[in-house]
Amino acid sequence: MPNPSSLDVLLSPAEFDRLPRLDLRSHTCVVFDVLRATSSMVTALANGADAILPVIDIESALAVRQARPDALLAGERHGWRIGARLTGGVEFDLGNSPREFTPEAVRGRTIIMTTTNGTRALQACAGAHAVYVGAFSNLSALVEELRRVAPRKLLVICSGTFEEASLEDTLAAGALVDALWPGYEQGAIGDGAQIARCVHQQLGTDPLAAMHRARNGRRLLEQPALSDDVSFSLRRDSRSIVPRFEAGAVSLPPRACD
Ligand code: MLT
Repeated sequence: MPNPSSLDVLLSPAEFDRLPRLDLRSHTCVVFDVLRATSSMVTALANGADAILPVIDIESALAVRQARPDALLAGERHGWRIGARLTGGVEFDLGNSPREFTPEAVRGRTIIMTTTNGTRALQACAGAHAVYVGAFSNLSALVEELRRVAPRKLLVICSGTFEEASLEDTLAAGALVDALWPGYEQGAIGDGAQIARCVHQQLGTDPLAAMHRARNGRRLLEQPALSDDVSFSLRRDSRSIVPRFEAGAVSLPPRACD
């Protein structure tokens, strides 16, 4: 008998530790960090960046920069661009605001990125069969791609905020789950997927209002320099790309020849 399909959502970073114990080689993963890491990655690639190299900590980012002096350094701690005080002298080129990843700033560049949760979530599912990068900005493109590929085992990873679940990632995961539901409802659906779908059905019609209830949403909205990142990151389907994380880099699959 063929394996039944399965669909689940990991709601909190506390569950990342579970990932190495699952045999991810047969799973396809989607990682969301709506506020803001995956929204920034989608923006950067849509604006012409070559690739993003997500790393877990500042030390690793600086080590990769040594080997790749042409690459840009990007990322945040406590929401703000990483500065000389945290690195022992190096100023990062970019923070983690998707609005910073303009064509002028990133076209043709490789970006080494470290953020509090998003880059950690990507690294946690590095052993998966395939890993996609999701945001509200590329949600429909992602749905279309996953319908096309139809993975038997789909695991959606919410990056969360520090060690906790986050409303924004749960909402995005729920929107994805809801769209893909007919393909999985005869299989094994985890409670995480049920919860995310319910959250989306309850709050999905007004995501900005939901961000006022979200810890990271409130934190960003309270900072005048960062508050526009929230509405920017909620713009649905402004991009039609589906980045993949593979061999240590987030990039776009090569286009098929015409
Ligand atoms: C993260 O990776 O934890 C987030 O993207 C934090 C942020 O809002 O910059």
